[in-house]
Amino acid sequence: MKITQDAIERSVPLMIVLTLLVVSVGGLVEIVPLYFQKSTTQPVTGLKPYDPVRLTGRDVYIREGCFLCHSQMIRPFRAETERYGHYSVAGEFVYDHPFQWGSKRTGPDLARVGGRYSDEWHRVHLINPRDVVPESNMPAFAFLEKAPADASTIEGKMRALRRVGVPYTDEEIAGAKKQLEGKSELDALIAYLQGMGLEMKNVR
Ligand code: HEC
Repeated sequence: MKITQDAIERSVPLMIVLTLLVVSVGGLVEIVPLYFQKSTTQPVTGLKPYDPVRLTGRDVYIREGCFLCHSQMIRPFRAETERYGHYSVAGEFVYDHPFQWGSKRTGPDLARVGGRYSDEWHRVHLINPRDVVPESNMPAFAFLEKAPADASTIEGKMRALRRVGVPYTDEEIAGAKKQLEGKSELDALIAYLQGMGLEMKNVR
């Protein structure tokens, strides 16, 4: 059977199959090169895997839904780069599984918040945001101060991340529990925030 234009237009199944074929070729052409491009697969200079404390803080960030109000993705627009710093690049996220780009900004973008405030500022702000920003509508996370950082799962988490390409060494994994000793979830979350975006801080 010859597949004519007429036959394709009259047969819905044929149309569906051929459309899918065209779309997948188009998709592959766009997506596949990204796996081989240095700019999307290589970490930016200075980027290190999250240490156990920051990794725990990151999990607190995800659990508490901070991403519902905060993005971690600075777009390449002047209004954004003037406020937050250099726009985000793919190489900053190679150790993020999953990344926390977010899509909602009830609060400011946090991609480069590391070092912008002192640890003490973050402590006061997270315990009660209104103590430092009177008009804030961010919820208070005071309970994190009393919650000990969970050391029981850290080794497993690091091993799982190693499987997807984060270069943790056996020594780092073995020493992880110890680093969390005496730390609260608040300490871990602050460590996570303070490390955010430092690699690109001085890039213009
Ligand atoms: C309901 C929305 C909401 C949620 C949920 C939320 N925030 Fe916020 N956040 C805000 C708003 C609004 C501001 C701006 C006012 C302020 O500084 O408090 C803000 C500000 C901040 C700032 C200061 C940023 C800057 O550049 O000045 C940090 C840091 C921050 N939030 C961290 C967090 C963390 C960590 C969590 C999760 C534990 C979180 N936020 C959850 C709304 C939210």
